[in-house]
Amino acid sequence: MRYLTFALAKGRLAKKSMELFEQIGISCDEMKDKDTRKLIFTNEELGLRFFLAKPSDVPTYVEYGAADIGVVGKDTILEEGRNIYEVMDLGFGKCRMCVCGPESARELLKKNEIIRVASKYPNIAKSYFTNKKNQTVEIIKLNGSVELAPIVGLSEVIVDIVETGSTLKENGLTVLEEVCPLSARIVVNQVSLKMEHERIRKFLTDLNEILKVNN
Ligand code: PRP
Repeated sequence: MRYLTFALAKGRLAKKSMELFEQIGISCDEMKDKDTRKLIFTNEELGLRFFLAKPSDVPTYVEYGAADIGVVGKDTILEEGRNIYEVMDLGFGKCRMCVCGPESARELLKKNEIIRVASKYPNIAKSYFTNKKNQTVEIIKLNGSVELAPIVGLSEVIVDIVETGSTLKENGLTVLEEVCPLSARIVVNQVSLKMEHERIRKFLTDLNEILKVNN
């Protein structure tokens, strides 16, 4: 039997995904070892293979068919813009993509002024301002601790993930606009969905059932 291969976003998302998969009989004991540095794991009995990738690379592995199925955040799916099917919302890892900044920046979003927007998600930020708001902006790509940007004068606002809101609050910033809600999603390779239709369909049906029970 050909392996059905899963690409998981390394970290909390992979852990939560495996907890969920266990409820539908998909497990991988090797992965539970906290000290392991391995990146690839198999369940020979079920013909399954799992690998842990950097979150932003999961859509790439799935688009090219190196993985049949991926679990990744909606933020990454939107930012990467890969040719993949998004087939299910897992309902965890819920947060929001927002335009944030100091309260004083609110006015700037109403006017058609050219403002600077710092973000780890330049594609999402550009698409929001260009397509939704019709506002010309300069996007500045950062790699983390984006909240710094408006505080030190690098940008007027940021586009970033807000979960509890405490990072914003502790840095004197606030949500100015919501771009979209986010959560963990299942993505599938377009060819795999045809070639491995039965196995993938069963996986998705089982998952759907357990999500209904859990909620
Ligand atoms: C994320 C995000 C915010 C923060 C939001 O950053 O970019 O900074 O979490 O969470 P909160 O609303 O619960 O405070 P992450 O911790 O991934 O680190 P980063 O700043 O390096 O991207």
